[in-house]
Amino acid sequence: MVVKTLIINNQLLTASEDQTILEAAKDAGIDIPTLCHLDGVSDVGACRLCLVEIEGSSKLQPACVTQVQEGMVIQTETEKLQTYRRMAVELLFAEGNHVCAVCVVNGNCQLQDVAVRVGMDHSRFPYQFPQRKVDLSHPQFGMDHNRCILCTRCVRVCDEIEGAHVWDVASRGGQSFIVSGINQPWGDVNACTSCGKCVDACPTGAIFRKGSTVAEMNHDPEKIRFLVTAREQKEWTR
Ligand code: SF4
Ligand code: SF4
Ligand code: FES
Repeated sequence: MVVKTLIINNQLLTASEDQTILEAAKDAGIDIPTLCHLDGVSDVGACRLCLVEIEGSSKLQPACVTQVQEGMVIQTETEKLQTYRRMAVELLFAEGNHVCAVCVVNGNCQLQDVAVRVGMDHSRFPYQFPQRKVDLSHPQFGMDHNRCILCTRCVRVCDEIEGAHVWDVASRGGQSFIVSGINQPWGDVNACTSCGKCVDACPTGAIFRKGSTVAEMNHDPEKIRFLVTAREQKEWTR
């Protein structure tokens, strides 16, 4: 193993030559925000959350797809980076339809976590309110494109871990969207093994398990009556 020496946030450290800046920083206990990165699958540098400053380069570089090099001097928390990250998150919120209050993953969402981390309390960009579809054709899962941030974690986990390659990205630029099969309803894609890996990989509420949405919650007041009766009749005392 060839070892490289570099400096991150004024901390001198060593890393193996095949590591990315993100991995080297993580090993040194330095936490860089990410969204499209997922441990165990390849990196694509899609979300630009992990940008860092490298001395000698005027361009910000994504830490998840930049290999370490001997003598690199890197900063991960400058004011410029914080401003840039906050802007990137604001754009994600403005480009989709994120109504957290009625979202399946409210309180357990990596997009929310990142928003809190970068200090985003509102978006300065006009909300676009795009018209997007919800696909409920799969018997167990649902796909709500309104909450998709195009991180492609579902695409990579399905292809690289499950080997099914159900998901892909269609179209280009701002028109891009995630497709199942050959742009078929998810339920019609025979390649899907229903393993649920994409559900676990999705950082937002875009892919979810049926039965977990707010509208599907079942309240059963009769259960309370049963418990009250059981308590009054001392059915639980020995
Ligand atoms: S995916 Fe996250 S950010 Fe988007 S609506 Fe749901 S909770 Fe909010
Ligand atoms: S569905 Fe989820 S995992 Fe897939 S690209 Fe959209 S946000 Fe990422
Ligand atoms: S985590 Fe590096 S670009 Fe998304």
